[in-house]
Amino acid sequence: MSEPSLTITDNRTGKSYALAIEDGTVRAMDLRQIKRDAEDFGLMTYDPALMNTAATKSAITFIDGDKGILEYRGYPVEQLADKCTFLEVAYLILFGDLPNEQQLRAWTYDITHHTFVHENIKTLMQAFRYNAHPMGMFISTVAALSTFYPDANNVGDAENRLAQIKRLIAKVPTIAAYTYRHNRGLRYIYPVNDLSYTGNFLHMMFKMTDAKYTPNPTLEHALDILFILHADHEQNCSANAMRAIGSSCVDPYSAMAGAAAALYGPLHGGANEEVLKMLSRIDNPRNIPDFIKGVKNGEGKLMGFGHRVYKNYDPRARIIKRVADEVFEVTGRNRLLDIALELERIALEDEYFISRKLYPNVDFYSGIIYQAMGLPEAMFPVMFAIPRTVGWLAQWQEMINDPEQKIARPRQIYIGQSRRDLPKRKG
Ligand code: ACO
Repeated sequence: MSEPSLTITDNRTGKSYALAIEDGTVRAMDLRQIKRDAEDFGLMTYDPALMNTAATKSAITFIDGDKGILEYRGYPVEQLADKCTFLEVAYLILFGDLPNEQQLRAWTYDITHHTFVHENIKTLMQAFRYNAHPMGMFISTVAALSTFYPDANNVGDAENRLAQIKRLIAKVPTIAAYTYRHNRGLRYIYPVNDLSYTGNFLHMMFKMTDAKYTPNPTLEHALDILFILHADHEQNCSANAMRAIGSSCVDPYSAMAGAAAALYGPLHGGANEEVLKMLSRIDNPRNIPDFIKGVKNGEGKLMGFGHRVYKNYDPRARIIKRVADEVFEVTGRNRLLDIALELERIALEDEYFISRKLYPNVDFYSGIIYQAMGLPEAMFPVMFAIPRTVGWLAQWQEMINDPEQKIARPRQIYIGQSRRDLPKRKG
């Protein structure tokens, strides 16, 4: 049987071209041969927002948006959330397989022994205004880390890359906790290396006068699950930013600051903060019908609903709903949950949302949990950035090792003024 191909006839010239079909795609560069005449640049594709363009091959995360499936390295996220710790999943995402006992011990040791940040980082963070948004502080501080590790720009060296990967995964909870303590005017708390990744994070966030802070095991476990669910999500806006910036061979701290900035936006990781603001504004389940009417009239979006890829229930949202119940056993029920549940129920029965296949995404319930844990809304995107660090770094590493990748440089269709001369000026 012949290789699968696509025949295109250029009606401008009458010429036909056979383009190879591989993995359900044709290569955009194969279109370049299609020319009106020898002078012609050749055909390109026009795909604003990259709606139908695969920019990479990736072996990290699989999503089937129609079926609501999410897998890391082939494992369903439900199984990973049920049986693994975040650090195991981080290892899986980065290295392709779950660690054996010895590998996990070494990995955990490495991560827990890079949690400290240079004292100058503390000084730098103290310079932010008392009410600076934690995500702004997070992004800037991650970027500043590049100045502490100037050798990190040697991105072609695998050993060097691994050192920065460990540093970043280890240090992001410390930076995140410091942004919170800074907003609260509280002394920064140093990491404790014998706690788990999430246990240590809770310690750095919430330790007050107690000589030894013992994290609540339910909250520690819930956070671990939330971190697993947020660890990677293939070629989303921030992963794409990480790859695009990293493709210039800049150091991973600078690239990751850009990825975190992409995450900050309300249409991406900033959505969890917006969901909470929305639920607080709705205030009472009886106000939901009016709110939904407003959304349908284009007065705003139902934040935490809809996804570019999922046209079915986001599998992460399903798991998060379960985690919420466990957390509320400890913290008490967040009254916003009732509004969220009712909002979901009404939206899922409404023709507007049904016809557009709009379902709750990961952000719809995560903020309610974080709020119950005592986190302010502004911290929510930071809570997303901590685990997503793993995904960004795995995507970055895969991009660097991919011989097909080059500096990311899309084309444009120029629609501006054609060449013109400056008007004559006096003198
Ligand atoms: N509320 C109301 N209407 C919506 C929503 C929403 N949350 N999301 C999409 N729609 C509507 C759009 O207005 C559009 O309607 P139209 O066809 O009548 O014009 C239709 O559904 C299709 O939406 P698009 O904007 O084309 O979908 P796109 O794939 O570009 O956007 C996105 C996806 C950005 C996530 C969008 O659904 C959205 O803004 N959701 C709210 C923000 C949010 O929750 N973001 C978090 C995403 S998950 C994550 O990043 C972790």
